[in-house]
Amino acid sequence: MSPTLQLTAEERSMLAGEQGHAVKKSMEILAALGEIYGARRLIPVASVQIAGVSYDNLGEPGLEFLDEMARDGRVRVLTTLNPAGMDVERWRELGIDEAFAGRQQRVLDAFASMGVITTCTCTPYLVGNLPRFGQHLAWSESSAVCFANSVLGARTNREGGPSALAAALTGRTPEHGLHLDEARAPEVTVEVSATLHDETDFGALGVVLAEKIGGRVACLISVGDGAGLEELKMLCASAATYGGTALLHVEGVTPEAGRCAAARVTIADADLVRARAGLSDEVDPDELDFVSIGCPHASLAELARIARALDGKQVKRETWIHLARPLKSVADRAGYTRAIEASGARLACDTCMVVAPLKGRFRALATNSAKCVYYGRNKNGFRVLLRPLEQCLRLATGE
Ligand code: F3S
Repeated sequence: MSPTLQLTAEERSMLAGEQGHAVKKSMEILAALGEIYGARRLIPVASVQIAGVSYDNLGEPGLEFLDEMARDGRVRVLTTLNPAGMDVERWRELGIDEAFAGRQQRVLDAFASMGVITTCTCTPYLVGNLPRFGQHLAWSESSAVCFANSVLGARTNREGGPSALAAALTGRTPEHGLHLDEARAPEVTVEVSATLHDETDFGALGVVLAEKIGGRVACLISVGDGAGLEELKMLCASAATYGGTALLHVEGVTPEAGRCAAARVTIADADLVRARAGLSDEVDPDELDFVSIGCPHASLAELARIARALDGKQVKRETWIHLARPLKSVADRAGYTRAIEASGARLACDTCMVVAPLKGRFRALATNSAKCVYYGRNKNGFRVLLRPLEQCLRLATGE
């Protein structure tokens, strides 16, 4: 153990195995990470969000690890899950095979037996895992980590699946990185002179940020009043995907924004136009066979827009809308589900186009998400079109 990492008596008891095997193993993981990162202590976390839930990513070794932890592990704080590889209720309709579904269900059962809420969403802040300013977390989904730090002003590093689970089972995380003031200070000020018209521009902005500032913490000024929940989740998802960004100080949004750095860069319209162009391929209309919305998972406002856009129409291409299951209940009551499903589009809860096993099923994808573009290309080998939400849906209906 690091000479600088001081454990409390309670934590030493955990490490000694006095509180069970899963807690001992968790404390070993946290102490090792604390040593690697030079943490002086472990700190309590208010909530946990665990990624690496899809069996497509976990495989048998991941499932065996979860089964081992589930033998006597029980979470100590509110803990939610990232998307799984399938909609747990309608996986057959979405073309998921039985063998995969069985293994995915075992993953979810292991988490559930540890007391994890199997929300399966990358927008936990929309379904009750909503931290406040200054709270320490152990979250692992990159877009949600960036959103938690940048929009909510909570404090979390980007955890791996095992370290997030370890935090859940002990209620602690090593104090390093973005838990500390010094790592959160802006290193560069980014003046956004470009006009941001819609969510795809916010996605393109994440790409330009990655190109211009790399992994530095930026203070973004002049992003404008157009940055609502939907645009901010797109920006965070894109900045995290293309630049590994876990914290942006957005003027007028981030609770702790205000201390801008002397170093300055500007992002102009031409930067955005170039980035947007790079986020689409040449796609023949006949080749386009998949439209996917909800990366990160759709908000209620987006579901309302989708319902309006599809009302009375029929989709001609496979169209999936990804969302957290609790929001589907709201969509059911609001009549959105009826309008969307009557068009032939599918509401796919618990999962997304990236973590579901879709490789080889489609050739070309239209999406409004820059993050989805990245994984559509690099994980699934799709050709891609980045278009705003309503344009994606017009492509779906063939208008
Ligand atoms: Fe969420 Fe899947 Fe996108 S986890 S952020 S919908 S890649």
